[in-house]
Amino acid sequence: MTQLLDRSLGFDAALETLRGGGLVAVPTETVYGLAADATNAAAVAGIYEAKGRPSFNPLISHVSDLEMAQRYGVFNERALRLAHEFWPGPLTLVVPLAPKAKVADAVTANLPTIALRQPKGTMAQLSKALDVPLAAPSANSSGRISPTTALHVMDDLGGRIDLILDEGPCDVGLESTIVKVTDTELVLLREGGVTRDALEAVVGPVSHLEKEAATRIEAPGMMLAHYAPRKPLRLNAGQARADEALLAFGPQVAGHKAPALNLSESGDLQEAAHNLFAYLTQLDDSDAAGIAVQSIPMTGIGAAINDRLARAAVPHDTQEADDG
Ligand code: TXA
Ligand code: MG
Repeated sequence: MTQLLDRSLGFDAALETLRGGGLVAVPTETVYGLAADATNAAAVAGIYEAKGRPSFNPLISHVSDLEMAQRYGVFNERALRLAHEFWPGPLTLVVPLAPKAKVADAVTANLPTIALRQPKGTMAQLSKALDVPLAAPSANSSGRISPTTALHVMDDLGGRIDLILDEGPCDVGLESTIVKVTDTELVLLREGGVTRDALEAVVGPVSHLEKEAATRIEAPGMMLAHYAPRKPLRLNAGQARADEALLAFGPQVAGHKAPALNLSESGDLQEAAHNLFAYLTQLDDSDAAGIAVQSIPMTGIGAAINDRLARAAVPHDTQEADDG
């Protein structure tokens, strides 16, 4: 059975569950994560099993602070600058694995690098209290949309995990930006809450992941088909057809027959990111044959929104088994 507890009531139970090698869904500023003790191989194996996640797809380790992060990863000067600027926050740094790092092999999928993030709030507090990093992918079954509420997690993973901490909807609503920082590479692996412009203001030009490299296991998070609703998505639509649901953005001229949801009537991209996954999930559960999505500007966090929509729109028969 999966317990659902308010964060204030559930914090101690979460500590106990994690100490015992259990699985706890924990809110972060981005999306809900499915957390386990990153140093406990059996607990980490439980994450892969609960999600149905392919074992070659590594996990993000969430830390309490930069000092803990440096016990597990090697931070060069640029990595340090990024951490100082954006932690705690929606930025994950992929850095070389520290020589004596004691994380379960499955956390890194045996790569020579490790993904580290200091989130805001509960996840970091749990990590601090336990003095270990918490391995946590998004708390959805593999290939599904990332959860931004505790109820999304319950609907998807209920019965397969021990506990869900409920803290209401996540602030950002999209997964973290992922940047690989080694002495030879500075690469944006996934767009997210921290924009490219914000990164470049701190460390200068950041290269894009090459499309061909994106299909290799080295950066599995960038494989296509990461965020898959069941219904087909039609992007950059003006209006919905009669049998489609509408995911709108910005002020609307004409009304649309239900179901229709507006990501942000005022055209605010932060608000749109915050609403994106919940609205997609809601429309995916409607009776419509498909979802028409109006165009979203590419500025700021709009790049990350368009990235997630493009992945969600990949036809199902061409989708690879990847985590979502
Ligand atoms: O906002 C987020 O990032 C959320 C919250 C819970 O922190 N987590 C999240 O985890 O989105 P997940 O597993 O859904 O996505 C993490 C991505 C995966 O696609 C994985 O392939 C990639 O990070 N990743 C992890 N370690 C890596 C590494 N060493 N090299 C390259 N990519 C890595
Ligand atoms: Mg995910």
